[in-house]
Amino acid sequence: MNINYFEKERVFKLDTKNTSYLIGVVDQENFPGHIYYGKKIEDHDVQYLLRIDEPPFVPTKNNRDRSSFYDCFPAEYTTNGVGDFRDSSISVKTKAGHVGVQLSVISHKIYKGKPALEGLPATFAKEGECSTLELTLLDQTLGLEVILIYSAFTDVDVIARSVQIKNTGSEEIVLTKVMSVCMDMDNLDFDIITLHGSWARERHIQRRTLGLGKQSVGSTRGESSHQEHPFMALLNKNTTQDTGDIYGFHFVYSGNFLAQAEVSQFDSVRCMMGIHPADFSWKLEVGEIFIAPEVVMVYSADGIGGMSRNYHDLYRNHLIRGEYKDKKRPILINNWEATYFKFDTDKLLSIATEASKLGIEMLVMDDGWFGNRNDDNTALGDWTVNEEKIKGGLKYLVDEVNKIGMKFGIWFEPEMISPDSELYRKHPCWAIAIPGRTPTLCRNQYVLDLTRREVLEYVYESIAGVLRSANIEYVKWDMNRQLTDIGGFSTEPERMGELYHRYMLAVYELQERLITEFPHLLLENCSGGGARFDPGMLYYSPQIWCSDDTDAIERLSIQEGTAMIYPLSSMGAHVSDCPNHTVGRVTPFQTRGHVALSGTFGYELDVTKIPQEDRDMIPEQVEMYHKYNDLIRTGDYYRIASYQENKQFDCTQVVAKDKSEALITFVQVLNRPNFHSRRICLKGLDPDRNYKIQGSEKILKGSTLMNAGINMENPWGDFGSRLIYVTGC
Ligand code: GLA
Repeated sequence: MNINYFEKERVFKLDTKNTSYLIGVVDQENFPGHIYYGKKIEDHDVQYLLRIDEPPFVPTKNNRDRSSFYDCFPAEYTTNGVGDFRDSSISVKTKAGHVGVQLSVISHKIYKGKPALEGLPATFAKEGECSTLELTLLDQTLGLEVILIYSAFTDVDVIARSVQIKNTGSEEIVLTKVMSVCMDMDNLDFDIITLHGSWARERHIQRRTLGLGKQSVGSTRGESSHQEHPFMALLNKNTTQDTGDIYGFHFVYSGNFLAQAEVSQFDSVRCMMGIHPADFSWKLEVGEIFIAPEVVMVYSADGIGGMSRNYHDLYRNHLIRGEYKDKKRPILINNWEATYFKFDTDKLLSIATEASKLGIEMLVMDDGWFGNRNDDNTALGDWTVNEEKIKGGLKYLVDEVNKIGMKFGIWFEPEMISPDSELYRKHPCWAIAIPGRTPTLCRNQYVLDLTRREVLEYVYESIAGVLRSANIEYVKWDMNRQLTDIGGFSTEPERMGELYHRYMLAVYELQERLITEFPHLLLENCSGGGARFDPGMLYYSPQIWCSDDTDAIERLSIQEGTAMIYPLSSMGAHVSDCPNHTVGRVTPFQTRGHVALSGTFGYELDVTKIPQEDRDMIPEQVEMYHKYNDLIRTGDYYRIASYQENKQFDCTQVVAKDKSEALITFVQVLNRPNFHSRRICLKGLDPDRNYKIQGSEKILKGSTLMNAGINMENPWGDFGSRLIYVTGC
């Protein structure tokens, strides 16, 4: 077993392939302390690292300074309101209005495998791939049990953590804060990486010095958000892409979150991640359990890239499910940027006919096919086919597309309701709103209160009904606004703080039902582009639309931040028309293809209208996709250079797991006059193996390609790109 308890030392040791994580139980009151997380170590007798023999000492030695002990003890899960003045992991409100929590370890369980988290997305593993420690803590006064769950994987350097809170007392308790992770460690001269953005520029990387005090990212928008991402990494100042220590924390959740690193007066750092406490509360009746979502932690000594590859393997093997988990996805063409709301059966069939000739495999009908939706002001909620546009009905259209030899996919925005819709006229109180107050519009729509059973059932049956009516093989599940005006017509007043989380549980329930009833469906989540690109959604859909920004150059930074933690197989990426609809930039069709190839690959343009020379390139791009997608989907990802950092060019590489082949994608942004080729050093190859560079007669050793490199010729013109393919021989 890769988790062990050493009774004499009172230490739990969790090992992954290359890392160790140690927890100590301290003093008579069994305080749970964090001893170590990092490179694998052999010894377990390292309680001394907890500094319990230094002032202020443990309470049995120095009870007069108990508060000082709480305030510096490196905790695995913290007290609240009794003397640790750093941010707490948990907070409550008792019937009498008290908030104090004081936790001691009372028992533990260690077993093979990993438990599922009821109603929540979570990583999974077979018995041999993972062991789990359940550490039960108790607040005796409250009768509140806190079960810390740690699963240590053996095939990836990942420890997954979650928390369950049980009311074993005699009266109700309201939880007002529940973090899924708390981990205190020494500040090893850390930087912090977080991801930031906006609509059309999601997940840009920010690296900065971790200073004293609290540094946090979060969302209170009811979605993981365009703006900040449920991820943070702490890394040494000198950590690079390829070397140095890095600790990653990623939340397997799609709603409100808080990720925080707090550097204390003693230069220790408290890392916390969980549901955002703002406007959160959860009433726990006697005997009830609250299950907090999971955080997946990676430690790597191989720099940012080492962390990336661990997350990629974790998500590919232990989070993504279903038929397309390990399968190449059909190349799709989506009509959104091609037609927006102006389309009908004939238009769609003309796109499908032309696309199919070029090798494209699936037509996706985007927004505008239902109710009277001819712009984005109406009809969300009215999921009946608009037969004025879809003449002959949906089944006819799908059958015709199938006859052309293509699959068919469809767009929904199931969670929404337009004030101008049949549904709203019938059920105005189905929208989330504070009774008596006009709710805030966003894209002229409201959010449905999915926490109400009848609303959830209506939504499910509307979508499932459409899917049952024709051979639909793909769904794009969109979500185009944040939650506001948190209120409900049926929610009990004292449970209002539960609405955000209950909403997420309802979304997860809907998606779980959908993929259970339609196991062959390819589901792609989307949220105004990438506002809900998170590990939570990845549990239900193997791919997520990365961003509404399809410009090849804007995509470099978006895809860099995304690929830092997500496998390329999950990044929805399409070739679109120019001038680009978001930024007006004109880039070569070839570059658009190369950049989209690093993701799921597809098209988002009117193939009947684009210039002939672009159309002529599509069969070549399709061929490239079929040639390289297995490698891109399953290989190890390396970042060679970042345009965001160097402001000149971008370069990434994917290497097959067996190191038999590699693909390098190079994008020169602005061209430079009077400039020679650029030296690029490859990564991740077998140093002793010979490799052949496609298109050249040269055979070179892996060590030569990695240490001395190759000369990358400068593509002509701005925004040029190249692919270099090397194969072992
Ligand atoms: C969102 C999506 C787009 C498109 C539109 C349709 O913005 O991100 O891809 O589907 O909605 O309204």
